[in-house]
Amino acid sequence: MSGLAIRNVLVTGSNRGIGLELVKKFLSKPQPPKWIFATCRDPDGLRGEELKNLASENANLVLLQLDATDIDSIKEAMKKVEKQLNGSGLNLLINNAGVMTSVSLENVDSEDMMSVYKTNVVGPLLVSQAALNMLTRCQAEGYKKDGILCTALHPGWVKTDMGTDRAPLTPDESVCGIMKVLDSLSEKQNGILLSWDGTTLPW
Ligand SMILES: NC(=O)c1ccc[n+]([C@@H]2O[C@H](COP(=O)([O-])OP(=O)(O)OC[C@H]3O[C@@H](n4cnc5c(N)ncnc54)[C@H](OP(=O)(O)O)[C@@H]3O)[C@@H](O)[C@H]2O)c1
Repeated sequence: MSGLAIRNVLVTGSNRGIGLELVKKFLSKPQPPKWIFATCRDPDGLRGEELKNLASENANLVLLQLDATDIDSIKEAMKKVEKQLNGSGLNLLINNAGVMTSVSLENVDSEDMMSVYKTNVVGPLLVSQAALNMLTRCQAEGYKKDGILCTALHPGWVKTDMGTDRAPLTPDESVCGIMKVLDSLSEKQNGILLSWDGTTLPW
């Protein structure tokens, strides 16, 4: 397999920052994915407004509620994805949702640590597990068994709410790089950590 033809993609935490930029870049590809599932915690809230507007202008963009720390919301979102895809499955999952505590190592308490762990570590595992269960069902329905690539991507230090204005990269620069990396993914990159500019980083 060389180069990933993105058919159906799901992005978590896509209402702002890098996630929102990813959705915009997928939409503007010369050959956009058939379906883009843009998920966020509160699609009807103020923070979901930009995504909602995009969804109203793009028929291939489906906006779904998904909180990466809430298994019921993950299952509910995956049910909707499965229904929409009617057996074809996702071929790209971007676990983008994440939080960062601003508390220093001296002051951080166990509650802060658990909250970051729950969102950034357990969250992606739960979303991946739900997506895999869906894929297993799709394959059981007679679809060809594809290999699954699992790659970690570092977006660089990016000017978002998390990265702050001090970051050197704009979301556009980071995500343009990420799109190139996605286009070039092959088995060789399975299990490695790549930077937004395509360089391999040590784990
Ligand atoms: N910016 C950087 O310099 C940088 C560097 C290294 C890695 N990263 C990683 O890149 C990813 C995106 O970062 P960013 O800079 O775009 O951050 P951001 O601007 O703070 O956005 C974070 C996104 O994650 C969502 N989110 C947080 N907790 C969630 C949960 N439990 N369920 C679903 N969504 C949740 C937020 O949704 P709400 O609006 O609902 O809060 C928001 O959409 C993160 O995983 C981050 O760790 C960023």
